[in-house]
Amino acid sequence: AGVAQFSVPLTVPPRLRPYRSTATTDYYAVTASRVFREILPGTRTEVLAYNGSFPGPTVRARSGRRAVVRQTNALDTPVSVHLHGGANPMESDGGAMDTIAPGATKTYVYDNRQPAATLWTHDHAHHMEAEHVYRGLSGLYLLGDRDEDALGLPSGEFDVPLMVRDARFDDQGAMVYAMGDAENRSTILVNGRPWPRMRVKARKYRFRMVNSANLRVFVLCLSDGGEIVQIGADGGLLEAPVSTQVLVLSPGERADFVIDFSRYAPGTQLLLQNLIGPGPTDQVGSVMRFDVGDPAPDRSTVPATLAAYPALPEPTVERSFTLRMDEPGTGHMAYINEKTFDPDRIDTTIAWGTTEVWTVTNTSETIPHNFHTHLVQFRILERDGQPVPPAEAGRKDTVFLFPGQSVRLQLTFDSHRGVFPYHCHMIDHSAMGMMAQMEIV
Ligand code: C2O
Ligand code: CU
Repeated sequence: AGVAQFSVPLTVPPRLRPYRSTATTDYYAVTASRVFREILPGTRTEVLAYNGSFPGPTVRARSGRRAVVRQTNALDTPVSVHLHGGANPMESDGGAMDTIAPGATKTYVYDNRQPAATLWTHDHAHHMEAEHVYRGLSGLYLLGDRDEDALGLPSGEFDVPLMVRDARFDDQGAMVYAMGDAENRSTILVNGRPWPRMRVKARKYRFRMVNSANLRVFVLCLSDGGEIVQIGADGGLLEAPVSTQVLVLSPGERADFVIDFSRYAPGTQLLLQNLIGPGPTDQVGSVMRFDVGDPAPDRSTVPATLAAYPALPEPTVERSFTLRMDEPGTGHMAYINEKTFDPDRIDTTIAWGTTEVWTVTNTSETIPHNFHTHLVQFRILERDGQPVPPAEAGRKDTVFLFPGQSVRLQLTFDSHRGVFPYHCHMIDHSAMGMMAQMEIV
């Protein structure tokens, strides 16, 4: 089964409405189940869905308002739901071992005590997370706040989430999951649609992009090399907008950006391209197409200052971590500090309130990795000894590392105590053991 590129219109996942709201809290209900959905036109594909939606429905939460999610598992395998980028107590973090049995329900409580950010939820059940996420258990969680509202950024129908990933389909249209199979996952999906096209008005749009792929790194640009204005990263808005032509997003990372289509003549077709493999360029080289329509009134702005960043506290502890996995053909294990994941082991004990600097090195010879921490948004101080570009200098929870690269991160542990994981977010790798745990005491 195949599909012609740009033949399918982009859709946006439905918004998840609370079933009940009080003065402080919104209550949601979500069920994970196995359903058939049309991904390739004319074909039904079995997927795993939250509330029947592939990808799942979008939660729009507000800073300072609690969200309570009653999660039911209607699958025949355990699940665990992690709110990626959220600072939540460990009972609500969706840990790898804290799973919901088939038929059972668990209630997650999200405090939303953090600034506006593009967060996302996805499965985290140990050893199964990679296949579960691949088959569809992921969804957006857009946290808003008043400071962001006051900026006047494009909003409403001009604020569009884009969950970008890849997938492999067989001739019958079934999704094929094989661990580490990146080069064969050559169908690119945006919001669950293959290489979609989107009709845009000739004005500014805000896009919230999440790389929800298991392994694929995207290096994105517009086909005319046109300007992309990045305004946010993983943990929320940047201090100031950054004008760029290229966005690099490894799995789990987010980019919040504005494109001003008013510079294009109506009728212009603009591709969002991906500059790197693996996989055939005629497939993985394109992501989606924007078809520019007529000009439309636009009162949105991108202010020169987006967010206030407090000064970084002084770090008092230094640690180092290595990421490595068996090179192709030599085994199937993956390691942090040369050890593979063991749910009983705490690798790092941290005193609450401490600010630390972590040096993380990808010691693989040929394999890229990234590094994701639960609970904290960190700041990237440097990569290979050099300061990082401004788009990477904001709040981050996931950082990309080419083979041999090293980053220095600064983290402050001042939210919750408990045991939380950190891992490679190329989640085929974390499922192979590239995960460890810290305890904040
Ligand atoms: Cu999005 Cu533990 O991960
Ligand atoms: Cu990895």
